[in-house]
Amino acid sequence: MFAQSSLTGTKAEQYDQLLEQARGLMHGETDRVANAANLSALVYHALPELNWVGFYFYDGKELVVGPFQGHPACVRIALGRGVCGTAAQTRQTQRIADVEAFPGHIPCDAASRSELVVPLYLGDQLVGVFDLDSPVTDRFDADDQAGLEAIAAAFIQTLGPA
Ligand code: SME
Repeated sequence: MFAQSSLTGTKAEQYDQLLEQARGLMHGETDRVANAANLSALVYHALPELNWVGFYFYDGKELVVGPFQGHPACVRIALGRGVCGTAAQTRQTQRIADVEAFPGHIPCDAASRSELVVPLYLGDQLVGVFDLDSPVTDRFDADDQAGLEAIAAAFIQTLGPA
């Protein structure tokens, strides 16, 4: 059984601990659905003020919702659409302080106020995105972005060499 221990210390130290927990959970496992499911649960329960944490996977045409924690979400998102489609298309993490000010934001959970979306690329190949929503405006700072990008990179590493 995996016992999730609470995070302590500075924010950077907490993200180091969360990354170690994430690596431990995924150790020796290459199934992307299994790893995405466990990562979603780990992060959702470890970090405060989140209402949605999960994955969209690229099916060769658009993004399709994968494992997540939170309320049911939109199933398909075209590349370039919304915060998720923008992250996938631009290959840049989207850290949105106020989703209502983001042109084309796709509201899935009406409670969401801010959002962080990390694009997932294996080399040049789009795998999908890792998406976090918060009911709090401006929930994610640069430390959150760095910490969650590191967790996303650990997930990508489980998929094999680029
Ligand atoms: N808000 C996202 C859609 C996905 S949900 O937040 C789970 C977007 O604009 O792409």
